[in-house]
Amino acid sequence: MDTPIELSKSPRKLGPSNFEVGPIAYGCWRFAGTDVATAQAKIETALACGMTLIDTADIYGVDGGGQFGDSEELLGDVFKTAPGLRERMVLATKGGIALGVPYNSTRAYLTSAVDASLKRLKIDTIDLYQIHRPDLLAPVAEVADALTSLRALGKIKEVGLSNQTCSQFRALQAHLDFPLVSQQPEFSAWHQEPLWDGTLDLSQELGLATLAWSPLGRGMLAVGKPDDGLQEVLCFENVMGVLKRLADREETSTANIALAFVLAHPANVIPIIGTQTIERIRESAQALDVRLTRRDWYDIVEARQGAPMP
Ligand SMILES: NC(=O)c1ccc[n+]([C@@H]2O[C@H](COP(=O)([O-])OP(=O)(O)OC[C@H]3O[C@@H](n4cnc5c(N)ncnc54)[C@H](OP(=O)(O)O)[C@@H]3O)[C@@H](O)[C@H]2O)c1
Repeated sequence: MDTPIELSKSPRKLGPSNFEVGPIAYGCWRFAGTDVATAQAKIETALACGMTLIDTADIYGVDGGGQFGDSEELLGDVFKTAPGLRERMVLATKGGIALGVPYNSTRAYLTSAVDASLKRLKIDTIDLYQIHRPDLLAPVAEVADALTSLRALGKIKEVGLSNQTCSQFRALQAHLDFPLVSQQPEFSAWHQEPLWDGTLDLSQELGLATLAWSPLGRGMLAVGKPDDGLQEVLCFENVMGVLKRLADREETSTANIALAFVLAHPANVIPIIGTQTIERIRESAQALDVRLTRRDWYDIVEARQGAPMP
């Protein structure tokens, strides 16, 4: 029997922490490069739409042609202009990517990275600090020690990991006497690896929040056009075919079907949307009204797999 999948609009626990956040989060990867008033309008719109987790990183700004720290700096300028905003959100940032190195999670680096993020953001404490990508050379015990000290000093409140394997997550957790609260993998109707590589199972096992980055495949699932150089174009068209059929039926966009796809997974998945267009921030909130059935959801999985489920 096919059944509809209810998407809860209620706030969700940020894993084993005291924070609660809206079911959709807002991301600041593409945030830098505008004036403060425009940036403030985006943050206010996201908060008004219930997107109470705001995700940034120290490195954001570089991909947009700017500099390391630009996105945090701009968000900090927004906080300075509108001091009340900071208290209305759960603020997440990341560190550990060192340009050209490429990664550094040593005690000295993380300690200075957190101080630099706090300074750019013009705040006293980071609600969720995430290691952006695992540093294969940093001893796990040292990373754990650095994070424990930063937490004891109140510079960071909770810790999450991004782009790590499940065993990397477990290795760090084993050296901590407090629980990690979140994972941040790439997860979308196009990038479905977390369904199969244990990431979403780990979230359910440990009660973590799963912050899904690029839930629209960096926009491809909204635009309907594969990125230049994308392999598997035929497969992409098949996935888009299913998203379009469901979007027509639900009288919504393929973007919102794609968001509903990740929201439907039971691993406390919180998609981080990345649009910098105010109207699209508002439209994204309507993804919570989409009613996919189990059959619809598996149609999207099968289109990506290129075969029916066994
Ligand atoms: N942990 C990590 O390693 C990592 C990596 C990447 C991203 N992230 C996080 O994930 C967040 C989201 O990433 P993302 O920006 O790639 O997310 P996304 O939501 O998959 O893609 C956003 C892109 O899609 C475009 N788009 C959205 N709706 C559209 C529509 N209806 N028509 C045309 N274009 C549309 C946006 O353009 P417009 O702005 O013009 O609407 C934007 O360029 C980031 O901000 C960051 O917080 C984390």
